[in-house]
Amino acid sequence: MTVPQGKGMSSAAGGRRKRVLVTGGAGYIGSHVVRQLGEQGYEVLVYDNLSTGNDWAVLMGELVVGDLADSDQLRTVMDNFRPDAVIHFAAFIEVGESVRNPLKYFRNNSANALNLLESCRKCGVGALIFSSTAAVYGIPRENPVCEEAPLAPINPYGASKAMTERFLADLAFADDGFRYVSLRYFNVASADPQGRIGQAYRNPTHLITRALKTALGLFPRLEIFGTDYPTPDGTCVRDYIHVEDLAAAHLAALSHLFGGGSSDVFNCGYGQGYSVREVVKAVKEVTGIDFPVVESPRREGDPPVLIAANEKILRGLSWRPLYDDLRLIIQGAWDWEKTYLEKMRN
Ligand code: UFG
Repeated sequence: MTVPQGKGMSSAAGGRRKRVLVTGGAGYIGSHVVRQLGEQGYEVLVYDNLSTGNDWAVLMGELVVGDLADSDQLRTVMDNFRPDAVIHFAAFIEVGESVRNPLKYFRNNSANALNLLESCRKCGVGALIFSSTAAVYGIPRENPVCEEAPLAPINPYGASKAMTERFLADLAFADDGFRYVSLRYFNVASADPQGRIGQAYRNPTHLITRALKTALGLFPRLEIFGTDYPTPDGTCVRDYIHVEDLAAAHLAALSHLFGGGSSDVFNCGYGQGYSVREVVKAVKEVTGIDFPVVESPRREGDPPVLIAANEKILRGLSWRPLYDDLRLIIQGAWDWEKTYLEKMRN
C-alpha cells in the first residue's frame, strides 16, 4: 500500500522515508499508531500474530503474520525491512487474566520482548518505543503519580511490563547506539474519529467497552467490581485517555528519538480521574440507555486510584492532548461499538 509522503520523514543520508516496524500493529492501540504513521509519511511494517489483532485493522503499510517467539522469522523480517525504529505493542493486556495465568504474561510480555531486543541489536536498530503501562506503579503512594515514583506492580501484567522497562534501561546504559522511550499508558479508550478501527477484542474486559456492549444488549448487565475502595464513591478511579491522543504520543516519541533525544519514560494520561460509577453514569447519558448495573466483589489486582502526572510528557515531547473529555471519549467508543456490531453481523 502506498501512503502519502509526509514532511520531515526522509533520512538525512539517502532521502528515503523512515521505516518503522510495529509489533502488535494489528491490535487496538497499535492499529491507531500505524494509521497515524502512514498518514505522516512513514514506511510501516506490522509484525503481528493476530492472536488478538485483526488484519482489517492494518490500514497502512504491510502486515507480516508472525510471532515474537519465532526469533528466526523476526530476524529475517528485520533483515529485509531494515527498520530505523521499532514500536513494540505486542503483548497481553488483561490484569485479571495475568493474576490467574502469570507465566503466560511473563512468557509473552517479557521473554518475547527479549527476543525482540536481541533482534534489534543484531540488525542495528537503535530506536525503540515501548508500550508500557501505569500498572508498573502498583498502588502509588501519591496520585497523580509521576514517572519517578517507585515501580511496585501488584499484578503479573504490571510486573511483566516493568521487567521489560528494566531490560530497556539496562540495554540503553550498556549500548550507546540504542535509545528508547517507554510510554506508560493509563486507561485507553475510544476509537478512530472516522470509525475505521477501534477495540475489537473477542472478550473485552475494559470498563467503557463492557458498559457500551451492555447498553447494546450484548451483555445482560454491567458489574461494578468493588464498591468499598478508599475513594469518594467507593469505586476505583482511573485516568481515561483517548486512543488518538495516545497514538500521537508515539509519533512525538519517535520524533524525539529521531531528533537525537535521549532515552526516557513518560506517563500518558490527562491528569484527571473518574470513578467507575462516574464512567457508568456518563455512558448512560451518552448512549441514552439505562442498562442494568450490579455491584460485585473487587476484581483481583485492581489498584484503587491511578491518575497520571503528565507534566513531563507535556514538557519533554511535542505532544498536546486534543480529545481530553470523558464524554467525547465515550461518544467515539459508542460510535465505534455500533459500527463494529454491524461489521460483525455482515
Ligand atoms: N471495571 C468494572 N467492571 C467491568 C470492567 C472494569 O467495574 O466490567 C472496573 C475495574 O475493576 C477497574 C476499572 O473498572 O476498577 C477499570 O478497569 P479496566 O479493566 O477498564 O482497566 P484497568 O484499570 O484494569 O487496566 C487498564 C489497562 C492496563 C493499564 C491500566 C492502567 O488494561 O493496561 O488500565 O490504569 F495498566
